[in-house]
Amino acid sequence: MGKQVDVVVAGGGGFIGGHLVGALLAQGLTVRSIDIKPRHEWYQLHDAAENVIADLSLLENARAGVEGARQVYMLAADMGGMGFIENNKAACMMSVLISTHMLKAAHEAGVERYFYSSSACVYAAGKQTDPNVTALREEDAYPAQAEDGYGWEKLFSERMCRHFAEDYGFTTRVARYHNVYGPHGTWEGGREKAPAAVCRKVAQAVLSGDHRIEIWGDGLQTRSFMYIDDCLHGTQMIMKGDSGVPVNLGSSELVTINQLVDIVERIAGIRCERSYRLDAPQGVRGRNSDNTLIREIYGWEPSVSLADGLEKTYAWVYDQVKRSHQ
Ligand code: NAD
Ligand code: GDD
Repeated sequence: MGKQVDVVVAGGGGFIGGHLVGALLAQGLTVRSIDIKPRHEWYQLHDAAENVIADLSLLENARAGVEGARQVYMLAADMGGMGFIENNKAACMMSVLISTHMLKAAHEAGVERYFYSSSACVYAAGKQTDPNVTALREEDAYPAQAEDGYGWEKLFSERMCRHFAEDYGFTTRVARYHNVYGPHGTWEGGREKAPAAVCRKVAQAVLSGDHRIEIWGDGLQTRSFMYIDDCLHGTQMIMKGDSGVPVNLGSSELVTINQLVDIVERIAGIRCERSYRLDAPQGVRGRNSDNTLIREIYGWEPSVSLADGLEKTYAWVYDQVKRSHQ
């Protein structure tokens, strides 16, 4: 490390980070991608990037990681879907060390722009108790009642970005991602989110001929899901933009989990026999993204339909499941 690079992507071995590194390289930028995982576990490994294995929760590694960088995208976190964050609250909160050390190191190193990936999990639980949820506006994060563990870390860390901007004039940008899905994401192992999990379950049903699948909850809970292409576009747009306020980056296409399963079944060409596990992790009852602010500031919002995004995601997950069966 130490040489000049245009961009550092922290968490580059993960889902969004792996896609972002690819997009930045395609734009002709030089990229340093950093992740704690051994290389064979990176979801995408781009040879054209400087690929570094380091634990960014340690201040000395964060300092070495950002050296010579103009911009930093901070995507590293110990996280996952509801199955993970509901049962690993302490681990999720420990990501505060990554968030804190990366912000401090980037500021000290004179980085020009710093992006932090926050989450819809910062929003107050009391605003998400109904499946016919009123879409969440940015001000709904306060008074704070964030998702226990993971959401509190995100809320604290995005607020720290604000104070580094206000107190030190450091240019920070914050997006609140709403459930992101697509190829090269986590699809098994306990950290996967609903879109990949449903694709996997339906693909397993197709391949095994056993069409029984298990859904967590009663299937009536609601979410919106953002395809990775929209996430990449929005992330870079917010990084380049003039606004430092945290902004929703999510789809506003609200569906029940049952409707999500319907779409995947249509793509796969089968009907499954669903059973509902009511003791499984469920999170909030309903969540949607109000995109008024992102439209106002940037004149843009995510637009890939769930059906189109799932078509590509299902094809990729199906291949992974097929390979793991061989
Ligand atoms: P991911 O788990 O695929 O990627 C995160 C990466 O960070 C992983 O590869 C992990 O190994 C790495 N990491 C963890 N601890 C580290 C450490 N100490 N040092 C270096 N690297 C470390 O997750 P993702 O879906 O790509 O999410 C990226 C970011 O966006 C995360 O901060 C996440 O909290 C946030 N986010 C994601 C979603 C979503 O739906 N995917 C929603 C809201 C927010
Ligand atoms: N993961 C998963 N797996 N969820 C399932 C499944 C399954 O097999 N079946 C049904 N669900 C239901 C969950 O019970 C939950 O009610 C809903 O699908 C969505 O679950 P997730 O996709 O795991 O998470 P989330 O939307 O509650 O929260 C995610 O998005 C946030 C941003 O919007 C998490 O990934 C957070 O970490 C993220 O910040």
